[in-house]
Amino acid sequence: MNIDGKAWRTIWLEQGGRSVGVIDQTQLPHRFSTRSLTTLDQAAEAIATMVVRGAPLIGVTGAYGLMLALQADPCDASLAAAFEQLNATRPTAINLRWALERVRDRVAPLPPAERAAAAAAEAAVIADEDVLMCEAIGAHGLELFRSIAAARPSERQHEPLNVLTHCNAGWLATVDWGTALAPIYKAHRTGLPIHVWVDETRPRNQGASLTAFELGREGVPHTVIVDNAGGHLMQHGLVDAVIVGTDRTTRTGDVCNKIGTYLKALAAFDNGVPFYVALPASTIDWTLADGVAEIPIEARSPDEVTLITGLSKPNAADSSADVLRCVQLTPAGTVGFNPAFDVTPARLVTGLITERGVAEASEAGLRSLYATESAGTDGAP
Ligand code: MRU
Repeated sequence: MNIDGKAWRTIWLEQGGRSVGVIDQTQLPHRFSTRSLTTLDQAAEAIATMVVRGAPLIGVTGAYGLMLALQADPCDASLAAAFEQLNATRPTAINLRWALERVRDRVAPLPPAERAAAAAAEAAVIADEDVLMCEAIGAHGLELFRSIAAARPSERQHEPLNVLTHCNAGWLATVDWGTALAPIYKAHRTGLPIHVWVDETRPRNQGASLTAFELGREGVPHTVIVDNAGGHLMQHGLVDAVIVGTDRTTRTGDVCNKIGTYLKALAAFDNGVPFYVALPASTIDWTLADGVAEIPIEARSPDEVTLITGLSKPNAADSSADVLRCVQLTPAGTVGFNPAFDVTPARLVTGLITERGVAEASEAGLRSLYATESAGTDGAP
């Protein structure tokens, strides 16, 4: 994606491969800055504190984190400890474990001296594959958007397609393109008029800060709404489709995504609005059948609920005086609870948009696209 005319990915190698560059997402949308990760601890901290976030991107960061650990010490114990440290940073997104296992399984059989280079190569392949998968999701989603737009009544054909999204499943959440936002970028670039309702996505406001940042830089018309507005908009015919990403998808098609996604799915179901989930294969957990019962939900700090950060503008005439400030929302001492994700059951999902096409949100639907990957998992024929 382009920022001020320069093409960016969200993660890259620097200093001849001794350092990993990332965009610091905790500073967006107010400051665009990058960070260099040179140690395992820095990579783990970047994931845990959400300097990098989004399921596919934390997977790739984890993969490069293993590379950094092996550059420092390539022995078996170092590999095992780094795997555990990185895997513990965020428990919900399956992409993290998937990418760590891929790198570990690639390097473990090698002599220690060859491991760091092999980890770098495997991490680069994972990153490149992510870009290709996301672009393919974009192409399949675009076809879907075209058919939803064409099916609208003739008096609404001149209106842009109104799509609602939750959280940030854009290029900042992946290596490039994004999952849920990829079809939106494809639509915009190919001239399908589109407008995006952006859920602010409390408590960390990934919609208001990151999705709005991305769409603005790409010139896609969008409007930020409070999380509670979506149902009202759907009741009044102002949403043609909902599209979100996912951090973990069970083999039965349950999807786990940012907290609040389930409520949007319920509202969409009640109003006959199609609810689509966009995902690469790396997000499917073939070992799980019941998302609500089995997917671990990350509980983050209550401070993310009781405090909020934004740009303070003490002097309207002088933007150089603007500072990022954290302020308290609740009475001092108020207790907060902060589950970061929820599960939307497959029955509420209209379809899964993958890099291989659109599948029904069901075990049969996913197996029809991923026969090889799903072979041998529970319930397989
Ligand atoms: O807590 P975050 O910001 O990492 O959560 C991100 C999401 O919930 C995304 O929707 C999900 O990772 C899919 S991203 C392609």
